[in-house]
Amino acid sequence: MDQPHPTPPSPLAPQSHSLLTDRFGWRPLAADAGHVRERATDLFVRTFGTRPISCGHAPGRVNIIGDHTDYAGGSAAPMAIQLRTAVVAKLTNDGMVSVVTEWAGHEVPAGSRSYSRAWKDITPAAFAGPNVTKTWAAYAIGAAACAAQTGWLRKCGLQLAIASDIPVGAGLSSSAALEVATIGACVGLSKLNPTISRVPELAQRAEHLYAGVPCGIMDQLICTLGSPGGLILINFATGKKLDVSVAPGLAFVVAHSGVSHNLVATAYADRRAKIESALQIICRGTGRKYPTLMQAISRISDVDLVDADDPEAVPLVAHVLAESRLTRDFCVSISDGDAAAAGAYMTESHESLKKDYKVSCPELDAMVEFACALPGVHGARMSGGGFGGCIVALCDDEACGAVEHALRTGGRSPLVFRAVPSEGLEVETLNA
Ligand code: GLA
Repeated sequence: MDQPHPTPPSPLAPQSHSLLTDRFGWRPLAADAGHVRERATDLFVRTFGTRPISCGHAPGRVNIIGDHTDYAGGSAAPMAIQLRTAVVAKLTNDGMVSVVTEWAGHEVPAGSRSYSRAWKDITPAAFAGPNVTKTWAAYAIGAAACAAQTGWLRKCGLQLAIASDIPVGAGLSSSAALEVATIGACVGLSKLNPTISRVPELAQRAEHLYAGVPCGIMDQLICTLGSPGGLILINFATGKKLDVSVAPGLAFVVAHSGVSHNLVATAYADRRAKIESALQIICRGTGRKYPTLMQAISRISDVDLVDADDPEAVPLVAHVLAESRLTRDFCVSISDGDAAAAGAYMTESHESLKKDYKVSCPELDAMVEFACALPGVHGARMSGGGFGGCIVALCDDEACGAVEHALRTGGRSPLVFRAVPSEGLEVETLNA
C-alpha cells in the first residue's frame, strides 16, 4: 500500500509560515506531505532508540458541503486533503503504551509531548471521566485501545510516534486523522487481515469513549476512505457512498477564520442533543412511526415542519433537511461543471448553518462574505463543526492564486491553501 504522495500544486505560500507560527504556534506545513512519515520515524528512533515496524498515514479533510447532518441521518460531501498525519508503531513486551508527538500546536506544550500508561490502566474513565484533565494522547491511545478490543492488536506493549501537517483547531479533522492513522499503524502490526471498512467505526468509538466528544462519523469515514478523485457523497441514514468528481477548471480554497475551534466540544454536544430531541418532537407530531431517528429525516417533509410549529425544533430540523438537499444538488452541479449553481448551494448552506443551526461566528461570516465578493469565486461556506475554524470557497482554477492572495492579505486569514483531493488511510510495513 506504500504509494507515492503527489506534491500539492499549491502549498502554503512561504510568507504565511511566520504568521502561522506567531499567532497559533502551528508548525509550517511541509510542501511534500510524504515527509510526515519520515518525521514520525525520526521521532520514534530518537525517543525509543529502535525502529518502528508499521505506519498508518491518514489525511485531514475539508467538508465541502453538508455540516451537522451526519449524526442526524442527512447527507454530506467531504473531501480528504493533502495535509496528513503519520503514526509509526512497534509492539513491546513491557505492558506499557508509550506515545510521543512532534506537534508544536498550542494544545501540546513543550514538556508534555510524550505520554505513557500501563495497558491495564487504559480505560475510558481514565481519559474522559468527569474530573480528568483532557490530553491529546487520548485520541491515539483511545484508538489503539479500540483496535485492541476488536482483537486487531495484542496488549503486550506498544510504542507510537506521531507527526502531522494538519493544524490543530482549524476544523480540518486533525483528531479523526490521528485516530485513523493510529488504527492503521495497529493494523500494520496485526497478524490478522482486518477490513478497512471497520476503521471509521472504531475511530469514532475512540473519540466518543476516550476523548469524550460525541461526534458523528463523517470525519473518520473520509479520513479512511478519501480519494484523489474528488469528494465522497455520503448518505448517513443508509450508509451509501458515491464518488463525486470535480469538473475541470474549478478549485477549492480553504481559509482559516482566525478563530480556533478547539473549545467547542460542549457546544457540539449541545447541538447534537437538541437535534435528537427536535427530531423526536417532529416525529411525534407527524403521528408516523420511524424505525430509528437516523432514518426519520428522509421521511420528514417541509409540510411536517409547518404543521409542527415549534420555534426551537423546527429551525434545527429544517437545517438538516435543507442541508442534505443542497448537498445532493451540489454534487450534481460540481461534477457537471455548473459552477454558478454549485457556488450558490454552498453560500445557501452557510446561511442555514448561521441562521437555523447557529454554529457559525462573526469571523466565519465575515470571511465567507469577503470570499464571495472576490472575482472568480462562485460561493463559500464555513466547513466542519463551526464556532471558528475554516471556510471553503469554490473558485475558477485560473483565479485560484489571486483568491488565495486576497484571502491572506485583505481577508487577513492566517492559513490559506488550495485543497487537493487526496488518498485516505494508507498502511505500510516499514523496513526494520
Ligand atoms: C465535526 C464532527 C463531525 C460532523 C461535523 C459537522 O467535524 O466530528 O462528525 O458532525 O463536525 O458537520
